[in-house]
Amino acid sequence: MIDLMATMAVMAAQPDPIASYTLVAPTSVADSRLVARTVLPAGASCPEVIVMRRTSKGIVKKSYSMKARKPAASARIAFNTVRVCSHNIPTNAVRATIAGRRVPSSMPQKVNRMAMLADTGCRIKGTSVQDCNSPDAWPLKRIARQIAKSDPDIILNPGDFYYRESACPAADQALCGGTPPPVPGMPFADSADGWLVDVIRPLRPMFRSAPMALLRGNHETCDRGGNGFFLFFDPRPDTAGLCGPVNGVAPEPATTPTWSFTVKVAKGRTLRVAMVDSAYGTDGTVDSWAAVQRPTYVAARKQTRAKKGRQSWLMTHRPVFSHVTWQFSPAPPTEWTTWGSLDQTAASYGLLDTYQMVLSSHLHLVQAVQIPGQPGSLVLGNGGTYLDPTTGYELPRFGPLANASGQRVDPAVAPYPNASMDWTSVQFGYAVAKPAGKTGWKIAHRTPEGARFAAWARPRSSARDGRLRFADGAERAAAAGPRGVVVVAT
Ligand SMILES: [Fe+2]
Repeated sequence: MIDLMATMAVMAAQPDPIASYTLVAPTSVADSRLVARTVLPAGASCPEVIVMRRTSKGIVKKSYSMKARKPAASARIAFNTVRVCSHNIPTNAVRATIAGRRVPSSMPQKVNRMAMLADTGCRIKGTSVQDCNSPDAWPLKRIARQIAKSDPDIILNPGDFYYRESACPAADQALCGGTPPPVPGMPFADSADGWLVDVIRPLRPMFRSAPMALLRGNHETCDRGGNGFFLFFDPRPDTAGLCGPVNGVAPEPATTPTWSFTVKVAKGRTLRVAMVDSAYGTDGTVDSWAAVQRPTYVAARKQTRAKKGRQSWLMTHRPVFSHVTWQFSPAPPTEWTTWGSLDQTAASYGLLDTYQMVLSSHLHLVQAVQIPGQPGSLVLGNGGTYLDPTTGYELPRFGPLANASGQRVDPAVAPYPNASMDWTSVQFGYAVAKPAGKTGWKIAHRTPEGARFAAWARPRSSARDGRLRFADGAERAAAAGPRGVVVVAT
């Protein structure tokens, strides 16, 4: 009886994790390139991650005590309702469990499917309120379930997780009632409880599916949702407190170091993904931030030097080639361009020759842009947050880094030629990339219910450029509408 009571007492002190997941990490962090994380209610102690490992003596089981990952002391008041624990997964793991539940334990031996999603949270900012209670209006959980169903080998997310930046207005309780408001007096918007409702719980259905490679977006700058991003999702051990306020003020804008990881795709074929932190900067102009950002792209290029059998993608939240709707155009339009994010376009100028493709998000839509001579740009920001307008995506007359009159937006950099392929679709969803042929990929865009898109926002019959094209061929696509499959081929 005493034993039973003691056991019950231990059980009471060890509540189930709220969620457990595996992050892709730089090799400098973990030889396996994987970090296991778990989120528990405050007061719980960190559990063990139990790993089955292949060794020369066969499969060996070992337990590792997870360590608490602590937010900055100056941000703790907003994060004191959870305990986040972390431990690297050892190499050659074949199975890993936390509190009896499996988490992904190895990088894929061979990538057959990569799932991609971004810009996922439910918008509450001032009077702009999304219906967070409607799975049609905010379909993130559906998307996470579909991604789990698609059985991905790895999940890529270039950022913007946290969107509940204001208290739910009294008049909108039906839409967002129960949303934890920002903690008064803090120079940032997020909290642990906010992350649970906006990010962790809705994404939970896909956590068991595959390791996740995650970047922060501009919603995770230190004055917005950065504290939560670094606590929950940055894979590096020394970053949890990066966004902690100093003397009551959020830290100055700064980038975090570029890192990269490699996955096997097929025999003799690998994919390296360079991860660039583009949380800060401006979109409609080139300003002084471009020079601050440039070293992140220099580092990414160094990490993706050409190597036989290896392709590289660039992952960065703000796109280097993308255009917004003309509905966002301020007057006079002759001096403005819908091309953005221009600080990133300028910062990465001349540094993109190592990539087959650039994956980014930031715009709340799906867009595929091919600038001649450059890697294809896929913008995927339709993961659940309030969508951008559905019209106005006519291609600007001139290419990126030119304004509407063809003049340079920055005297230091010549504009790129205009896009040879350009497609925008504004609807919720996610994408799945599968290897195609010796070097290509087929990327299918799907709705939150898992159906392939059929929308075709801007037909362009002259498109016929090397790298990014539609599975149907652009000409046929223009007539019949693409099937939502973009092909990347070099
Ligand atoms: Fe963004």
